[in-house]
Amino acid sequence: MLAPSFLAADLANLQAETERLATSAADWLHFDVMDGRFVPNISFGLPVLQAVARYAKQPIDVHLMIEEPQHYLSAFRDAGASIITVHYEACPHLHRVVQQIKQLGCRAGVALNPHTPVALLEDIAADLDLVLIMSVNPGFGGQTFIPNTLKKVAMVKELLLDAGSDALIEVDGGVNMTNAGPLVEAGADVLVAGNFVFSAPEGPVATLASLRDHLA
Ligand code: DX5
Ligand code: ZN
Repeated sequence: MLAPSFLAADLANLQAETERLATSAADWLHFDVMDGRFVPNISFGLPVLQAVARYAKQPIDVHLMIEEPQHYLSAFRDAGASIITVHYEACPHLHRVVQQIKQLGCRAGVALNPHTPVALLEDIAADLDLVLIMSVNPGFGGQTFIPNTLKKVAMVKELLLDAGSDALIEVDGGVNMTNAGPLVEAGADVLVAGNFVFSAPEGPVATLASLRDHLA
């Protein structure tokens, strides 16, 4: 599955961007929220999500790169999130946060920074709908893919199997035509792509179509 990231879209034309993605090969729309504390950058938040949701045809996959996400879960659900992912590193009470997301009727994801070991998910794996493996340090689009991610994806796959979890594995950061195939082979189910999709001269719709064909 493919999840283009709005971070790389034309932010002055979000209605047009959302509408053109509506008929594309995008399965989900990835929405990156940054608070300037958990990550050293600020992106966009609730009112922008609400605006995008008015035109979205695909489920909106909200990636919360924020501290204390527990305070904002219902607001993000109300603004249009279908999937809510919080960072392992931002949640001392992760089990509670995951249950809260599910009680809101959303799918619950947990993201791991590049340095965070996969094994830390062992006691939460069975409760998850999604594991997001960061393949760059979160905070900015357009960074270079960290090759160690491939090994991590294979390890999460094994961990989820052992836990009897059917959680999806999502990879986020520096995804392109070169690493997409190996990522799927390693076990990735959802690929987030920002710059690769939106900066391509042929535009996001054609790029998403080529990526989907490449992975077929
Ligand atoms: C990074 C974000 C990513 C980002 C991906 O902090 O979580 O979703 O938008 O962008 P690219 O594909 O350009 O690395
Ligand atoms: Zn993201």
